[in-house]
Amino acid sequence: MYAVITGGAGFIGSHLAEALLARGDVVYVIDDLSTGTIRNIDHLKVNDRFHYIVDTIENVPVMAELVDRADIVFHLAAAVGVRLVVESPVRTIETNLRGTEIVLALAAKKQKPVFLASTSEVYGKSEHVPYSEDDDLLIGPPHVGRWSYACSKAMDEFLALAYWRERGLPVVIGRLFNTVGPRQTGRYGMVLPRFVQQALKGEPITVYGDGEQSRCFGYVEDVVQAIIRLMETPEAVGHVFNIGNDEEITINELARRVKALSNSTSQIVHVPYNQAFGEGFEDMRRRVPDLRKIRRTIGYEPRVGIDEIIRRVIEYERYHAPVSPPRWSFDRGNFYYYIILFSLFFITVSLKSVTSFPSGEQVFNHSRLSWLLSLILCALCILPCNAQQCCACLLHAYVCSCVCDSVCVCVVCDLQVLLITACPIPPACSRRRACDHHWFS
Ligand SMILES: NC(=O)c1ccc[n+]([C@@H]2O[C@H](COP(=O)([O-])OP(=O)(O)OC[C@H]3O[C@@H](n4cnc5c(N)ncnc54)[C@H](O)[C@@H]3O)[C@@H](O)[C@H]2O)c1
Repeated sequence: MYAVITGGAGFIGSHLAEALLARGDVVYVIDDLSTGTIRNIDHLKVNDRFHYIVDTIENVPVMAELVDRADIVFHLAAAVGVRLVVESPVRTIETNLRGTEIVLALAAKKQKPVFLASTSEVYGKSEHVPYSEDDDLLIGPPHVGRWSYACSKAMDEFLALAYWRERGLPVVIGRLFNTVGPRQTGRYGMVLPRFVQQALKGEPITVYGDGEQSRCFGYVEDVVQAIIRLMETPEAVGHVFNIGNDEEITINELARRVKALSNSTSQIVHVPYNQAFGEGFEDMRRRVPDLRKIRRTIGYEPRVGIDEIIRRVIEYERYHAPVSPPRWSFDRGNFYYYIILFSLFFITVSLKSVTSFPSGEQVFNHSRLSWLLSLILCALCILPCNAQQCCACLLHAYVCSCVCDSVCVCVVCDLQVLLITACPIPPACSRRRACDHHWFS
């Protein structure tokens, strides 16, 4: 089967891609890397049945081509994360409304089944827990930024169901509750990876509000299996399903367990909501899914409990997560790295300018200005990285600068490096000019 995953370089999308490849599908991922990262799918690139494209779902010709090829579409691309939603409401609303409209319209033309990733946020401030799919939605006022996410996702649901009723488009809607696991980033306000990163660094574990608000955390592999099984079940079409785990835990308790399971010496501190997210931020005290419908339809049962989830996230953050950023440090070990890096760079630059054929023709014909620019940019790479990362970063930047003429993203530190030229190293550059949809041809 040919599957398209929008937002496939994101946290859940990359796990879904893995699961679909494992069952023998051909997988096409489209992602603009706004909150996802190429690192999430690096390990999949060796698979012949895996293809990815760095582009936005709002690029209609590209999406049309993708949907044409697909037997099934998993629509996960969205502006996600409380912090991002609060800080960039325009982007949130536009991505979530316009992007979904494009995906559904294209899928409807060819009657391709669509899974739409919605969210438990649509239940809003309702205190009627556990939340059931037929409940009323109680979304807050438009001047409170966070509700733009819930509202845009609710509109996505309306639109998807309208396509089903009016145009017969087979859609299944999943309202995902907090989904967690390896590869989730803490950068946009996701609580578990943030707690784990703070605990591992020995920094204060920051709980927003009084911490007595509770949540239910579903493990990403359980969620992904539920999505796949729903799409295999004809009775699911045209329905909305809660997906997650119904084991409830307060955020204070979550912080305590993270601290204990990671053997951390971190303090647990409380930060008022208005300090974390600005004035007027509203949060829900409880959010528990009623899972009866999905249990009835596909026999769904979450298998991984909260302690095991925390252990797996700790394991990932400790051993597999990219070294996280960008802090200037200048200890002795790093100092030698900087010396080596700068020496390497100056040697290569000077070698380049003096190497020439007997005829006088230069081996590399880039201008000195382009080199100067590369130098400045590579030096800039160093500032936000730690030195070990920069070694690879600088090397990559140097190789790219020889032959590229596009904007590249350093695979190691994710920094966007403006280089003067199309990178010949396909896995290394995620924004190569030459890569433009090359697998379409
Ligand atoms: N993780 C959760 O707890 C959770 C809870 C409820 C709902 N969801 C939903 O699940 C889906 C996946 O979430 P996630 O947690 O994996 O987040 P994520 O940020 O890791 O994934 C979203 C992906 O979409 C991509 N994207 C955003 N805008 C795009 C655009 N215009 N074009 C192409 N790609 C674009 C991002 O780069 C990212 O890779 C989202 O729709 C989200 O609303 C997630």
